[in-house]
Amino acid sequence: MSKRRLFVTTALPYANGNFHIGHIMEYIQADIWVRFQRMQGNEVHFVCADDAHGAPIMIAAEKAGKTPQQFVADIASGRKPYLDGFHIAFDNWHNTDAPENHELAQDIYRDLRDAGFIATKTIEQFFDPEKNMFLPDRFIKGECPKCGAKDQYGDSCEVCGSVYAPTEVKNPYSALSGATPVMKSSEHYFFKLSDPRAIAFLEQWTADAGRLQPEVLNKIKEWFAIDEDGNGGLSDWDISRDAPYFGIEIPDAPGKYFYVWLDAPIGYLASLKNHFSKTGGDFDAFMADPATEQYHFIGKDITYFHTLFWPAMLHFSGRKTPNAVFVHGFLTVSGEKMSKSRGTGLDPLKYLNLGMNPQWLRYYIAAKLNGRNEDVDFNPDDFMARVNSDLVGKYINIASRSAGFLAKRFDGKLSASSEDGAALLAAMQAALKPVTQLYEDRDYARALRDIMALTDNVNAYVEANKPWELVKQVGQEDRLQDVCSTCIQAFRLLTLALKPVLPQLAEQVEAFLNCPPMVFADLHTLLPNGHAIGSYQHLVQRVDVKQLDALFEVPEMAQEVAQALPAPGGEDMADTITIDDFAKVDLRVALIQHCEAVEGSTKLLRLTLDVGEAQTRNVFSGIASAYKPEELIGQYTLMVANLAPRKMKFGISEGMVLAGSHADEKANPGIYIMTAWPGATPGMRVR
Ligand code: 2FM
Ligand code: ZN
Repeated sequence: MSKRRLFVTTALPYANGNFHIGHIMEYIQADIWVRFQRMQGNEVHFVCADDAHGAPIMIAAEKAGKTPQQFVADIASGRKPYLDGFHIAFDNWHNTDAPENHELAQDIYRDLRDAGFIATKTIEQFFDPEKNMFLPDRFIKGECPKCGAKDQYGDSCEVCGSVYAPTEVKNPYSALSGATPVMKSSEHYFFKLSDPRAIAFLEQWTADAGRLQPEVLNKIKEWFAIDEDGNGGLSDWDISRDAPYFGIEIPDAPGKYFYVWLDAPIGYLASLKNHFSKTGGDFDAFMADPATEQYHFIGKDITYFHTLFWPAMLHFSGRKTPNAVFVHGFLTVSGEKMSKSRGTGLDPLKYLNLGMNPQWLRYYIAAKLNGRNEDVDFNPDDFMARVNSDLVGKYINIASRSAGFLAKRFDGKLSASSEDGAALLAAMQAALKPVTQLYEDRDYARALRDIMALTDNVNAYVEANKPWELVKQVGQEDRLQDVCSTCIQAFRLLTLALKPVLPQLAEQVEAFLNCPPMVFADLHTLLPNGHAIGSYQHLVQRVDVKQLDALFEVPEMAQEVAQALPAPGGEDMADTITIDDFAKVDLRVALIQHCEAVEGSTKLLRLTLDVGEAQTRNVFSGIASAYKPEELIGQYTLMVANLAPRKMKFGISEGMVLAGSHADEKANPGIYIMTAWPGATPGMRVR
């Protein structure tokens, strides 16, 4: 078979936060596939990029006092330790604000416009009367128009997966100010997904054999379906946003920008183009070649964008469409669903910093991924059991039980296996052949199960032949060398089969075995008779339960808080007051616009509060032990607004924010700032 040429991507992460374990899972899934393809002799270009654009990033940058470009660059600079740490070997990492993406997005748009797929329409859109701007979809929240789930974003529902227009959301509110948005009109650009040509194309494209997983296709069929009332089906897609927006300008449309989701997938192409510009490849020729295969690994929440919008954009702009889109489920940790912005309790960087072996996680995740879009659970006990008993106990053990005898007695030289050993090896070679198809189908779970079943056979062979006894018997030298050689040959075959999952370990084994980098074609061969292996050094440690405890340990402050929970004895109630007494206290809802540490004080934070006045208030609050400034920015709280201003060492405090705490703070630490229910707006009086 001639070598295939593959272009592989993972979803582009938003450049507004560090990676969480969900990103790492996807990258590991794709990285294993890419390494497998390369071991098959195929040419692979594996790229990703930061998804830089959109209003949320623009707003976050503004809050951080940075330009969006600087903000995105700062996030990008934190990517490397994760990728290197988990042996995720992208060929290129780019970002969607790069010149390649501006050019490609504008080219694709012009081609779509020329083909008659762009329409304009004046639409009424949500406008935040407090913030004085059109509200980005992500900053409108409300109930999903399809399934009724509460607190969904304005563009798509995380519960049922539907994509819709923000105006369809029920009971909307602004996530920026809490205000009820008002309608304001503006001209928008649309991609005509409802064009009969688009529908016909997509119905065919999505159903093509091998293009999509069956469960994904079923979901898409629901999106195509039109009910008796004529509802449902594909709608035109609003691809423009009004300034101010961080994005790519729409050609011939001053003040209009592409919606981030239009230019994001084009970032796949931009990253590849950038990669080729560095390696001397010809991007246009590569993409024009019908033999080039294009694959995207994505999570199930972004299926609509990748299986409808994206192929239609590519096809009707005269470009190659993906050969397949590989959809995976979400990662839960001990059964708990992850939040897209906060991730889960499993912090990948903490994992690495604790010195935990990245290959444990690669192995465990691989053992759970079966190529379908089912959710995957990280369970700490299961993790420890699989790594310790399967990976170390069954597989590594084969080498550690046989290598020492060869080194000590036979200068590391292998002898030919006699009949039983040769039969074992031949059976393994035959059994490992179908593993390549399992990798191709991304059924790593089954691949590892089959490989581990073979380790059982080898361990049974070791138990039956007991090299530790042979070594004590006179006249059994040849048999000892034969048995240990068979074990090493078997270990090599298993390592080869595990190499896409455990690349670093495989490299160490190649060094130890004195053999060149292994590829799948080497499965048919054995190390030659008389080949000398190097000295064995322990390859993988076991997981220590202490490491897992540390990984999931709640930060110190939270732990103290947890301990303080069943606080013994309350605080005596203050004397009764009248309603008039209470009315003297002017309590207000306040938006924490900004928050920072106070130099020279470990207790205080400086808050900038919006209480609906012309000017913001400066308030010092003794909550530094409980909150990081960035946790508070953008949150609502309650304040005493008519407290006489107080001069402090660090400046004047113009009020006081409310927080709950125990009377004896030393014995029962923990401070809890009061917060307002969504919908409250700055300046509302609390009565
Ligand atoms: O959902 C997300 O995290 C998006 N940033 C994914 C974009 S994938 C591609 F289209 F760029
Ligand atoms: Zn829904």
